Amino acid sequence: MISYIYIIILLIETIHASTYLLPLSKCPREDSLRKCLDQYIKGTLNYRDDFLVYSADLEVEYNQRIIHFPVAFIHPIDVLDVQNAIKCGIELDYPIVARSGGHSYEGYGIGDKDCYLVVDLVNFNKTTINVTSQTAIIETGNKLNSLYYSVNQYGFASPGGVCPFIGVGGLITGGGVGFLNRKFGFSSDNILDAQIVLANGTVVNNAKKYPELLWAIRGAGNAGYGIITTLTLRIYPIPKVVTSLTFIYDWDQIPLLISVMNQFGNNFHQNLTLLISIVKFKTYIDGIYLGSADELQPHVQEFIKLTKPKSVSYSENDLYNLLTRSSESFNETGSFKVKSFFINSDGLSGKGVQHLMKFIESFECEFRIEIILLGGGRVNEIMRNETAFVHRGFMNHMVIKAVEPSEMCLQNLEFFSHYFQQKYTNYESYQNLIDRQLDNWQCRYYRENFEKLVEIKRKYDPYNVFHWNQSIPINTEISCFQ
Ligand SMILES: Cc1cc2nc3c(=O)[nH]c(=O)nc-3n(C[C@H](O)[C@H](O)[C@H](O)COP(=O)(O)OP(=O)(O)OC[C@H]3O[C@@H](n4cnc5c(N)ncnc54)[C@H](O)[C@@H]3O)c2cc1C
Ligand SMILES: *[C@@H]1O[C@H](CO)[C@@H](O)[C@H](O)[C@H]1NC(C)=O
Ligand SMILES: *[C@@H]1O[C@H](CO)[C@@H](O)[C@H](O)[C@H]1NC(C)=O
Ligand SMILES: *[C@@H]1O[C@H](CO)[C@@H](O)[C@H](O)[C@H]1NC(C)=O
Ligand SMILES: *[C@@H]1O[C@H](CO)[C@@H](O)[C@H](O)[C@H]1NC(C)=O
Ligand SMILES: *[C@@H]1O[C@H](CO)[C@@H](O)[C@H](O)[C@H]1NC(C)=O
Ligand SMILES: *[C@@H]1O[C@H](CO)[C@@H](O)[C@H](O)[C@H]1NC(C)=O
Ligand SMILES: *[C@@H]1O[C@H](CO)[C@@H](O)[C@H](O)[C@H]1NC(C)=O
Repeated sequence: MISYIYIIILLIETIHASTYLLPLSKCPREDSLRKCLDQYIKGTLNYRDDFLVYSADLEVEYNQRIIHFPVAFIHPIDVLDVQNAIKCGIELDYPIVARSGGHSYEGYGIGDKDCYLVVDLVNFNKTTINVTSQTAIIETGNKLNSLYYSVNQYGFASPGGVCPFIGVGGLITGGGVGFLNRKFGFSSDNILDAQIVLANGTVVNNAKKYPELLWAIRGAGNAGYGIITTLTLRIYPIPKVVTSLTFIYDWDQIPLLISVMNQFGNNFHQNLTLLISIVKFKTYIDGIYLGSADELQPHVQEFIKLTKPKSVSYSENDLYNLLTRSSESFNETGSFKVKSFFINSDGLSGKGVQHLMKFIESFECEFRIEIILLGGGRVNEIMRNETAFVHRGFMNHMVIKAVEPSEMCLQNLEFFSHYFQQKYTNYESYQNLIDRQLDNWQCRYYRENFEKLVEIKRKYDPYNVFHWNQSIPINTEISCFQ
């Protein structure tokens, strides 16, 4: 039996204080590992005994509900550092994991238990825009907001997510659900090429020369194929001034709102994406339209007439400002649990809405529900097997996010979600809203693409160097064909 002695580290930051109970005992072969890393890595290495910098690295994790204690955080400054980190890790039999933005909802950017070797890509922060080829070459340690900023400067857009501080490395390779999906597809649909460091240390500079590897990282690139250092993305010219809208409703208008959305969803102009948010006891719609407010209004006139919002407002600005304007609200780390649902092409039924309302009215913890419109969008014009990202043909993606959930709330959320998914929504769930409680996650995240993903994994990481609880395995007995 190993006995742990804990010491309490209090890291006072400007915003808030965090307490970590760091195990004082060492990881296996830790001294040899450190020797190897110290010798070969040029970037900063943060070990447990350097408490302050190590704790600051733990603080990067957005979801503080799940914290493990890696053996070290490596901050490579170039690809050679990444290669050497992998070499040292393999030589001393450590599991290795990449971290870009630290926004995994299950903390998988630091592994799924103590003593992972974390390759943090924070120094991989360059972005190059090529206007002629309409591409962005972006290093994966960037946050979405720097991608938005760079493309905006040249009058372009790239589909991302709703929160601007998510890492490019995790979000784009696992899908990317946000305001421009109806027009430009999911983020992963726009990956044209990548630089990847494989498990055997080889650097693949152009993943497009390896079609199956490129196929896999467009939807499962954050599930254990290697450490992706750079992505080449297709970007799109857009108008200089675009429009955001906000419609506010009363709580009891939710059923009406959803039924009108179901009726109109597939027919909205692709330049428009709408997102319904429900918090206790408020509901509103945010939208982005690629065009002016004058051009937008005819597209939503009928919708407004039927749903009778309590207030309607439009704001014209450049896309960067609109996507990042309420940034502060996204920045607070804390404890979260999310559940993901895809809603079939008819939309959520009246009964489904009723069931949902009953649940949230009695839910004891703070929550947030976001229902984004996908119906009639570019995302649904792409085939399910064209990339590893399988989820196509849906009206909406819906997230339920519990904030600082108690044990009781977690249990109630689990129970509800299981039933709700079975009865009212599709079988599939979104892999970027990773959820360790989800049963049959392999099929829910990847469906009929799962077996091909396993085959490709076996080819590029045959010894399963990059592994954690919900990474793609090298073998499987599961078949996800319907
Ligand atoms: C507050 C919040 C809001 C969110 N909003 C949205 C949203 O609007 N739309 C949406 O689509 N998603 C959203 N997400 C989910 C988000 O897309 C995923 O959590 C995403 O995987 C996070 O990426 P990251 O790089 O920040 O995370 P990390 O924790 O760094 O990594 C996540 C996973 O990807 C792997 N990974 C990271 N970088 C690399 C790399 N360079 N090479 C290989 N593997 C890598 C990690 O090992 C880990 O398993 C949100 C998450 C949070 C916490
Ligand atoms: C990018 O990373 C380098 C190396 O760590 C750092 O010096 C620089 O300040 C970073 N740039 C930005 C914009 O964060
Ligand atoms: C931009 O793309 C064009 C067309 O593909 C290419 O000819 C050019 O060399 C690229 N520019 C840079 C600076 O890489
Ligand atoms: C839709 O968006 C495109 C940019 O992608 C823009 O060129 C076009 O004018 C927009 N159309 C309308 C009707 O607003
Ligand atoms: C939010 O956090 C990110 C880093 O995760 C930082 O770059 C940014 O400046 C912060 N923004 C605000 C508005 O606090
Ligand atoms: C997708 O499936 C179709 C048949 O259903 C097949 O013709 C096509 O080659 C597949 N595409 C890929 C990329 O596997
Ligand atoms: C590493 O693996 C890749 C993919 O299987 C292969 O192409 C490459 O030759 C391997 N490199 C070495 C040094 O074995
Ligand atoms: C990993 O998954 C297994 C089975 O799915 C589960 O028993 C175990 O608790 C999980 N571990 C973590 C750290 O989530």
